Amino acid sequence: MQTFFAPGRINLNGEHIDYNGGLVLPIAINLGITATVNFRKDSLLNIQSAQIKEALNIDLNTETYEKRTTSWQNYPLGIIQYFKNNNLPLAAADISLHSNLPIGGGLSSSAALEVLISFVMLSAAKHNLLNKKTAIAQLCQQVENEFVGVKCGIMDQFAVAKGKKNQAMLLNCNTLECQYIPFDLQNKYVLVLMNTNKKRELADSKYNERKAECDAALQQIQQHKPLQYLCEAKLLDIKKIKESILQKRATHVISENERVKKAAVALQNKNFATFGRLMNESHESLKIDYEVTGFELDTLVEICQKTKACIGARMTGAGFGGCAIALVEKKQVSGFRQQVKTEYDEKTGLSLDIYETTACEGVVNL
Ligand code: GLA
Repeated sequence: MQTFFAPGRINLNGEHIDYNGGLVLPIAINLGITATVNFRKDSLLNIQSAQIKEALNIDLNTETYEKRTTSWQNYPLGIIQYFKNNNLPLAAADISLHSNLPIGGGLSSSAALEVLISFVMLSAAKHNLLNKKTAIAQLCQQVENEFVGVKCGIMDQFAVAKGKKNQAMLLNCNTLECQYIPFDLQNKYVLVLMNTNKKRELADSKYNERKAECDAALQQIQQHKPLQYLCEAKLLDIKKIKESILQKRATHVISENERVKKAAVALQNKNFATFGRLMNESHESLKIDYEVTGFELDTLVEICQKTKACIGARMTGAGFGGCAIALVEKKQVSGFRQQVKTEYDEKTGLSLDIYETTACEGVVNL
């Protein structure tokens, strides 16, 4: 028996810009998916999860797999199909999953599952791709884009595969160059993660709609300037875009990329006041210009921001529900947790889950 673990991720700043060639600042977290694996001698692959009812039972000798309606199964199926198409090794196995990541909560449970299954298969064969985690992240992104059908960027898969303990990753999503920056809150602050428990309905289609809007905005700017990605544009270039809705989307993307640059410097210099302010500004931009927050996330972030203990708060991940993060004074964190939960639950009728987290290792064979 072997055990593997793939973490979820939080993005500290830089939302919805990975697919626009921008900079992002994620960390892998201490919540994730554990796989207990018994390899088999035949050609069967059985994956079951303690959290989800429908198990996946397939014969690896089957030629092709179609997308299924049980959505979680499409992540492993997509990986298996990719491995087949690219002559990568597959191993028959009984895999038992256990997740303490809120499923569909915007902490990259899907990327964690993709990376985990890839890692299990490559480990069985001791394949040399195991040491090429960037390539693993890329193939997982391709599966999500093509098999699952979400036009996501590389951030989640990259963070899950290449996270480092106590380090944030400043990732250039155009070049895939990654600079690790110490995520050291100096025993003064705590990173609080909060799940709104608002279901992320239609999140995939709205996500793809935002991506299409960015592509349209880029095309209009490209008629005046040779750019490859929207993040290369300047705020002045927005004048070249005709539709006001596309102007707003581009305003978010370009300003968010600048915020990440500043946030990385602030983190490096342990300037947490600036780091927190940039979190607040990012949320505002995601709310007003990118319109991916919604009532629950906005209510939560507003409650956090008005507490004395909080020096910055924002949604994290794709939005449309899901999770938010806050940087909170350590001494006041228990009062903060209590106050925020009481107020959020009262205002939304939902029940807020709160965790404290820090930067952790990426996928591992335990
Ligand atoms: C999802 C996607 C990522 C990224 C974020 C928003 O998590 O999978 O690629 O675009 O949304 O920043």
